[in-house]
Amino acid sequence: MTDTELTFRAYTPTDRDLLLQIHTAAIAALPDAYYDSADRGAWCANRTAAQYDAAVADGAVIIVAVERDVPVGFVTYVPGPKGEVTMLYVQPERHGARIGQALLQQAETALFEQGATVIGLIASLNARGFYAAQGYLEGAGLSIETDAGHALDMVRMEKHRTALRPDGTPWRNFYGRRHGKKLRPAQQRDMDGALVEIQPKGITRADNPTRTPLDLHELFGREAPTWLEIGFGAGEHMFHQAGLNPDVGIIGCEPYINGVAQFMSKMRDAGLSNVRVHPGDARDLLEVLPEASLDKVFLLYPDPWPKTRHHRRRFVVPENLVAVARALTPGGIFRVATDIPDYVRQTLEVTQPMPEFEWHAEAPADWRDPWSDWTRTRYEAKAIREDRTPHYLTFRRV
Ligand SMILES: C[S@@+](CC[C@H](N)C(=O)[O-])C[C@H]1O[C@@H](n2cnc3c(N)ncnc32)[C@H](O)[C@@H]1O
Repeated sequence: MTDTELTFRAYTPTDRDLLLQIHTAAIAALPDAYYDSADRGAWCANRTAAQYDAAVADGAVIIVAVERDVPVGFVTYVPGPKGEVTMLYVQPERHGARIGQALLQQAETALFEQGATVIGLIASLNARGFYAAQGYLEGAGLSIETDAGHALDMVRMEKHRTALRPDGTPWRNFYGRRHGKKLRPAQQRDMDGALVEIQPKGITRADNPTRTPLDLHELFGREAPTWLEIGFGAGEHMFHQAGLNPDVGIIGCEPYINGVAQFMSKMRDAGLSNVRVHPGDARDLLEVLPEASLDKVFLLYPDPWPKTRHHRRRFVVPENLVAVARALTPGGIFRVATDIPDYVRQTLEVTQPMPEFEWHAEAPADWRDPWSDWTRTRYEAKAIREDRTPHYLTFRRV
């Protein structure tokens, strides 16, 4: 069979029967030496399609591989610093290393990007060669009890994260929160409907492995000056700026889904059409923005990471500010607001040696007074309630 294009998507409960079919067929196709007929029969009798939903409810993530609109395999993994791949099955007639390998890579990328430093799995003896070819090292052997009560030999395998990705770029850890409490039904509808429409495509490495730059004209449907807000929280400032500047296109990035949902309902009620939202990491977006494509970038009350050993997690590390500088147009503006004096220190320490940035500060009022078009964000309100002083830093892209 010739190779056709494989795509990947997150599991939804409507996939459950198909996954059980793939899973059952894959087990049935295993060599007899591995699983005898009693084991297979017991396996089938004990499985229900709802187990996939239960796994997801327990924190597992399932990625489904789709070919010609038909699911052809899936991988299940459990996130954590020591990630675990728990299942990898491919439709037997499509069994070739290609789909299994591509699925495993999806899981590995997600786990390593989320900060896992090692991925473990328990492989059947007939699959160990496959995993070894994907860079997994064999650990201890173990025996598990099959559904028919027999002992089955397995082997523990592990893969450690390399210092860099295969393409030579660094792995990134995201340390923030992505989810808070469950979204209300109307919020979920916004996320499934309106967000999908205004979300730029081709941001993540999975969606755009070649890192082809975004077409901003196409994104906004017109030529418009483009601004970026990094970590918009619940979006108070982005909402305010979008209303004040209807001729500008604003892209907001925010991985915290509950914040995105709050912003989406405000945007819907106000009928704003000049905002696009990437519900994820701004660093992924910066990589695919065309050079010199932004007129303004806002970084407002970024996560402070107060402990010295966590300062590397702050957004204002050199590699991120180099990426911001690359995306800003000459004369463009980079605004940073923070209530943490040590965050001001780090921002100045990183920007001062960079020829791309000029700090616009002649008198204390330049960093003590808010910008004339400013609106208070939720984090600023909290800072003021707790008696901390806001600082407003303005940099010009040289
Ligand atoms: C302290 S909150 C401030 C939110 C908002 N700007 C405000 O002032 O209310 C920082 C926000 O940055 C987001 N964030 C952290 N790292 C990010 C990244 N790499 N890309 C985009 N947003 C990020 C967090 O999810 C969080 O919502």
